[in-house]
Formats: sequence, C-alpha cells, structure tokens
Amino acid sequence: MGRHALFALLLAIGTVRAVGSGADLRWLVPLVLITAGWYVAGTAWRATFVTAGAGPWWLVVLTLLWGGLVLVSPDFSWAAFVLWMLAVHLMAFPLAVAYSVLVLAVVVLVQLDLGTHPAGAVLGPAIGALVALGVSRGEQLLAREAVERQHLVDRLVATQEEMVVLHDDLTRTQRESGALAERTRLSRDIHDTLAQGFSSILLLARAGAQRDDLAQLHTLLKQIEETAGENLEESRRVVNALTPAALEGSGLSAALSRLVGSLSQETGIEAHFTADGPVAPLATAQEVALLRVAQSALANVRQHSGATRVMVTLTTAPEQVRLDVADDGQGFDVTDWEEAAPLPAARGGYGLRSMRERLRDLGGDLVLESAAGDGTVLGAHLPLAADVAAHDRGGRP
Ligand SMILES: Nc1ncnc2c1ncn2[C@@H]1O[C@H](COP(=O)(O)OP(=O)(O)OP(=O)(O)O)[C@@H](O)[C@H]1O
Ligand SMILES: [Mg+2]
Repeated sequence: MGRHALFALLLAIGTVRAVGSGADLRWLVPLVLITAGWYVAGTAWRATFVTAGAGPWWLVVLTLLWGGLVLVSPDFSWAAFVLWMLAVHLMAFPLAVAYSVLVLAVVVLVQLDLGTHPAGAVLGPAIGALVALGVSRGEQLLAREAVERQHLVDRLVATQEEMVVLHDDLTRTQRESGALAERTRLSRDIHDTLAQGFSSILLLARAGAQRDDLAQLHTLLKQIEETAGENLEESRRVVNALTPAALEGSGLSAALSRLVGSLSQETGIEAHFTADGPVAPLATAQEVALLRVAQSALANVRQHSGATRVMVTLTTAPEQVRLDVADDGQGFDVTDWEEAAPLPAARGGYGLRSMRERLRDLGGDLVLESAAGDGTVLGAHLPLAADVAAHDRGGRP
C-alpha cells in the first residue's frame, strides 16, 4: 500500500514539476496516463501476473514507460525508487540487483546531464537504490517467514487432527481386542467346565439307562444331580468371570484332589493325586489355569484314553510349578497333533490347544508325551519367578 502511494506521489510531483518547467504536454499527458494505467492494472491483477511468471515483464514495460517519462522530463527520475522496490518482489534477488544497477545508471546519467556534481549525482541515487533494495528485501524475508510460520502451524494442526484419528482407531482396536479376549475366555471356560460337565451327565445317563438295579440307579441319579448342580454354579461363574468355585477357600491342591476323586467315582478309573513338596503360593490366574488344564486333561483321559490308571502330580520347583497328568491308556500320535494344532481349523478338538494357549498367556507351556499303545503324559508348567500379585491384578483366566 505504501509503495503504491509513493509511486502515485512521485508521479504526481514529477508531472507538476514537468508542467512547471514547460515539458511537452503532447508526450507528457499520454505517457503519465499510460504509466499510471499500467501500474494500476499490474497491481490489480498482480496475483495473475505473478502466477503466470509475467511479473518481471510487467516491470520491464513499466521501466520503459518510466524511461519515456524521464526523456520528457528528468523530474521523473526519482520514481526509480519504486522500481527498485518492485524489482526485489518480482525478480530473483541477483537479477533484481542487476536490474537496479541499470536503472541506477539511467538516474545517474540524468543527474549528470542536469549538471549535478558527479559525487552527488552518483551517491544520492546509489543511497536511494540501496535503501529501496534493503527495505524491500527485509519486507520480503519477513513475509516469507510469516508464510513458513503459517505452514508450520498448518502442519501442527494437521498432525493434531491425525493424532485424534489415531487415538480413535486405537480406542476401537483396544475395544475390539478386549471383546476378543473376553470371547476367548468364555469359550475356554465353557469348554473346560460346562462342556465336560454335560458330557459327564450324558455318560452317567447312558449308564443309568442300562441298569435295572434301583440302588445303582439312585447313585447315578445322585451323581447326575451333583454334576448338573456344579454345572449350574459354574455357568454363573463363567458368565460373571468369577474364580471357579472349586478353588474358593480350599486352594489348588484340594480342588485337584476332589477332581481326581470324582473321576474315580464316576468312571472306575484308578486315579491318584499327589502334591510333590509344599505348594508355592500361586496367583489366582495361575491356579485357575492349572485347574482348567487338569479338568480338560482328565476329560481327555475319560473320553479318549481307555486308561485304567491315571496319576495327577503337582510339583513345585524353585522357578516353576508343574502339573503332570499321566495315564496308561492307548495314547495317541503327538507329532500328528503338533503339526495340525497351529492350523486355524485344526482337527482333534479344542482342549489341548486351549490348554497350551492358557499356559503360554501366563509365560508357561504344555508338553505332551505319548505314543500309540503307550499311555500319555501331559505336562503343564508355569513360571514362579513372575510377580504373583501382578498376575492377580491383570490376569483373569
Ligand atoms: N489322554 C489321552 N489319551 C489318548 N488320546 C488323547 C488323550 N488326550 C488327547 N488325546 C487325543 O488328542 C486329541 C485332541 O484332544 P483335544 O482335547 O484337543 O480335543 P478333543 O478332546 O478331541 O475335543 P474337545 O477337547 O474340544 O472336546 C483327541 O481327539 C485324542 O485323539
Ligand atoms: Mg479334549
């Protein structure tokens, strides 16, 4: 804005003085009008000129018009100040400097022609050119800095918006993985408790259907009633994500002992439980995992092994707790199972895979030893070094 006012002022002063010194009006008036018009047009459509890369050419034409004015009257020579300023804005800086030197040469020649002292004729315009270049360059650098700052702010705002989107994604993923973890928990618990209970009830009911003896039938009905009652209680606990009833109050050893006892009672398999050495205090999550492994392993003994004896042993070593379930049944091909287990639709059911996942979730693992006709030993182990309390806080079964 200041630059436009300055140009208008210098043009006006030049015109007044030129008229006063008797310049040729036939040249003066049209040249002043065309120059003013060219300047206004260039300013109004500056954006279009600059974008099209025509800025320097516009300045060249303006400079030629100014040259014409200077020929009509040397009083216009000071309008060069605005040309120097424009050069910085419309040309690359080195080109602007070269252009300014050319314009300066014209102004100096005019001054010399007017009879000004050579020192004054050179120094005056040179200082003018330096000031114009300096002011414009400073202004240009400030404007660039402002644009850069604005870009920075824009980038910051964009990053912040991306962060919000990322945060939303993260929350959704967490929710989904929470839902998945809950589904896994439910399916494992249903498999290890309710499904096994129902299969017991089924076996007992089938056995009952083949008995005529009322006393035996009564015993079977009692067992069915107990198993159904336990299942009902267990289903509530599974849904409410509570600690298994079997563990409440009595701890893992007692729960395992009861489990083995009822297997014997219901199937006639000779089953024993031994706790080898004092049982270390375990986190609830660890106790639940080992109890579920035992339930699932004994269900396998019952369903697949045809065993006559089964030994359940709980061993506490310095760094780990082990649960072994060994039967003398028909065994199975472990290599076959290991190969099929990682496949999504693995053959052979859910039990062993779910045992392994439960144990691995807590830093342990499942080891199987079996061969056809040679019984099965299932070994589950969990680390003891881990912070027991941490498992209690974070690791619901
Ligand atoms: N103690 C065992 N004796 C003989 N075979 C066994 C024994 N334990 C497991 N198996 C074999 O390993 C297979 C896989 O057992 P897993 O518990 O994973 O599945 P499942 O018992 O068949 O089905 P689910 O447990 O899902 O009801 C069984 O089908 C069986 O052939
Ligand atoms: Mg099974």
